[in-house]
Amino acid sequence: MIKVAPSILAADMLCMERDIARAEANGCDWLHFDVMDGHFVPNLSFGPALCGAIRKRFPEVPLDVHLMLDNPEKYLETFARAGAARITIHVEIPGDVRAALRRIRALGCKSGLSLKPGTPVEALKPYLEDSDLVLVMTVEPGFGGQSFMADQMAKLDALRGMGYRGLLEVDGGVNAGNLPLLAQHGVDVAVMGTAFFHAEDQAALVREAHGL
Ligand code: DX5
Ligand code: ZN
Repeated sequence: MIKVAPSILAADMLCMERDIARAEANGCDWLHFDVMDGHFVPNLSFGPALCGAIRKRFPEVPLDVHLMLDNPEKYLETFARAGAARITIHVEIPGDVRAALRRIRALGCKSGLSLKPGTPVEALKPYLEDSDLVLVMTVEPGFGGQSFMADQMAKLDALRGMGYRGLLEVDGGVNAGNLPLLAQHGVDVAVMGTAFFHAEDQAALVREAHGL
């Protein structure tokens, strides 16, 4: 079974409540909330105010917060208070990765660690015991609607080979066509932005992922 985490970066910005309500009604498991600072990635997205508003309106849907920030440690408490269930940071940040992961857990959230396509999976090794989840990027982070990078699947196998037993999540260019490949590599959670919010039948897409 692969859980589905729609990325609201691909939702209709002026009808966010309608799109999230529809996603929830169609059975999504989590909501993926992409936070971008214009430095770590060349784009800006949402902040804690929207995160808190979504949490208040949709308390049943766990918020899977993906921090694409140079200094995520400055915002961990803010997003924890805004209602994040999970907070994922990137291994490429200049700061102390281990301290940030431990702080996320101390705040009562599940910790997550992500890596860009160009970062070797070995870079995660020192932090796996502090990571409840690893988020493997299958696009260069910063924008939705990009093409899936299948060569990143090797990182999933390598993580299991390192003895990692936490959740494996994949993010970027995921769609109905490549979901079976994710299942072959033992993915637990699929982030889907464009493929989900442009789907003819969201419920069918969720059922397909759940059936793998
Ligand atoms: C990209 C984000 C992804 C993106 C996924 O930086 O981290 O979550 O929104 O969108 P799609 O599924 O359209 O690639
Ligand atoms: Zn993301």
